[in-house]
Amino acid sequence: MQKEKKILLSGVKPTNRIHIGNYFGAMKQFVDLQGEYDNYIFIADYHALNQIKNPDELRDHTHNLILDYLAIGLDPKRTVLFKQSDAPQVCELQWIFNCLLPMPYLERAHAYKDAVAKRKEVNMGLFCYPVLMAADILMYDADLVPVGEDQKQHLEMAKDLAGKFNKAFSPIFKEPKAYIMQETSILGTDGEKMSKSKNNTIGLFEDEETLKKKIMSIKTDSKGVEDKKHSEEDNVFAFHKLFSQPMLDELRDRYEHGGIGYKESKEILLKNILAYTAPFRAKRAELEKDKDYVLGVLEEGAKIAGAKADAKMEKVKEAIGVN
Ligand code: TRP
Repeated sequence: MQKEKKILLSGVKPTNRIHIGNYFGAMKQFVDLQGEYDNYIFIADYHALNQIKNPDELRDHTHNLILDYLAIGLDPKRTVLFKQSDAPQVCELQWIFNCLLPMPYLERAHAYKDAVAKRKEVNMGLFCYPVLMAADILMYDADLVPVGEDQKQHLEMAKDLAGKFNKAFSPIFKEPKAYIMQETSILGTDGEKMSKSKNNTIGLFEDEETLKKKIMSIKTDSKGVEDKKHSEEDNVFAFHKLFSQPMLDELRDRYEHGGIGYKESKEILLKNILAYTAPFRAKRAELEKDKDYVLGVLEEGAKIAGAKADAKMEKVKEAIGVN
């Protein structure tokens, strides 16, 4: 008999166009681990509602994200691709989890504390964000959840919740493992952590002109062409590590011994990023023309995810006594 594969699950909020921090930090792993795991990858549109209150914008981001998922190589035959809102059972599960969580526990969440510190308005969606995320993860019995470093606490909370529910009722939830990649601390054009809020991102599907501008604006020191440079301390070189693999040693050599200026280094980087992303761009352009196919992928994903969620909710309802 074939051994059952472990389940990998992750989601991305459709709030912005994806940048290379998102890609190397989490999404590339979704693709690389296809086949090895049973993949469930979704569009976290209910989570996005926290930030986006404009229906056209939400639809637009959702459409872009499914195209991006498919363009980077997620294969619907090996990955269940779905919209979170197409399996709304997670909201039901979230309610049940809410009833297990003391408020002070959620008051320790980084995102909540941060919002309070910045005197932002905190709605219940923000406050309960980690609970909905726990429901996403536990609903589908995820073993492995590849996420960026910033999601670590949310993963811990999901693990806690599985334990709390299992102890209070019956042991039906699996405790998931986080899978945090080293490359998640990808720096932006200013040398700070790449983040939309810092305006230092490089989009994975950036048009060539913008890409060029952004790369040329990467902060460096002021060493001249012949000066010896520390490759490990240079922001441009940090990007080479992601995009310039076959020629990386040669580049490092030219940095360490002198003989390459930052301008040339950036020009090489631009070429390499374009080459690296060319297949993604081509695939995306093709998909843009085939709306029916894309909608079909989401429909199929909704069916599979919905059936799995129904089966899980039956067990949950039995455990808590509402069936
Ligand atoms: N909170 C995640 C983010 O902002 C998105 C997300 C929602 C998610 N639900 C999830 C990630 C479940 C992994 C698993 O990136």
